[in-house]
Amino acid sequence: MDYTFYDISKSDKLKEQAAVILHTAFTNIGKCAWLTIEAARKEVSECTEPANICMGMCRGDTLLGWAGLRPMYDKTWELHPMVMHPDYQHLGLGRKLLKRVEEGARKLDIIGILLGTDDETDGTSLSQCKLTADTVLDEIRNIKNLKQHPYEFYKKCGYAIIGAVPDASGIGKPDILMWKSLLQNRPD
Ligand SMILES: CC(C)(COP(=O)(O)OP(=O)(O)OC[C@H]1O[C@@H](n2cnc3c(N)ncnc32)[C@H](O)[C@@H]1OP(=O)(O)O)[C@@H](O)C(=O)NCCC(=O)NCCS
Repeated sequence: MDYTFYDISKSDKLKEQAAVILHTAFTNIGKCAWLTIEAARKEVSECTEPANICMGMCRGDTLLGWAGLRPMYDKTWELHPMVMHPDYQHLGLGRKLLKRVEEGARKLDIIGILLGTDDETDGTSLSQCKLTADTVLDEIRNIKNLKQHPYEFYKKCGYAIIGAVPDASGIGKPDILMWKSLLQNRPD
C-alpha cells in the first residue's frame, strides 16, 4: 500500500481525522479513553502543541493512523498515543509508522522512547494477579497476552517492558511501562 507521512499539526483536516481515529479505535477495544469526539479533539490539540511530534500516515488525503511523541525527560520522550484506524490495523502499517516516528526522534537527538500501555480490559496476565512491589518483576517476566493486548506489538517493534504500575487505572488495571533505546541507527 502506498502511504506518506505528514506532520498533523500543519493541517486542520488531518487533525479532525486524527480525532475520529482516536475516538473510534479506542472505543472499539472497550477503552474508557476518548469516549466522545470532543475529548478526542482536545487530545489531538494537546498532541499538536509546539515541541511535540505528531506524525500521521496517509494514503492520499486519508489518514490511516497517527502517533504522538512528547517531551518527558531531557533525552527520553513519551510515545502518546499510537493508533491506527480499525480498517487499517494488522497490515504492518503501525510498525512502519512507529519506525518513522523513531527516525524523527533521532533527528532531534532523542535517545530513548518510553510509553505506558494500560491494561483496563483484562488483556494480560498482569490484570489477573495481585501486583505488589514484591511480585511485579516476576509477573512481568512471565506476562501472557490474554486478549490481543498491544504490549506485544511494541515488543515486536523492539520495546521492552521495564516496569508496571499496579492498579494504575483502578484495582486490577495496571499500566505497563515499555522503553526502547534509540542509540542504534543514529544519523552521523
Ligand atoms: C496497536 C496498533 C497501533 C498496532 O498497529 P498495527 O498496524 O495493527 O500493527 P502491525 O500490523 O504493524 O503489527 C506489527 C506486529 O505486531 C503484532 N500486533 C499488532 N497488534 C497486536 C496486538 N494487539 N496484539 C498482539 N500482537 C499485535 C502483529 O501481529 C505484527 O506481528 P508480526 O510482525 O509477527 O506479523 C493498532 O492495532 C491499534 O491502533 N490498535 C488500537 C489502539 C491501541 O491499542 N493502541 C495502542 C495503545 S498503547
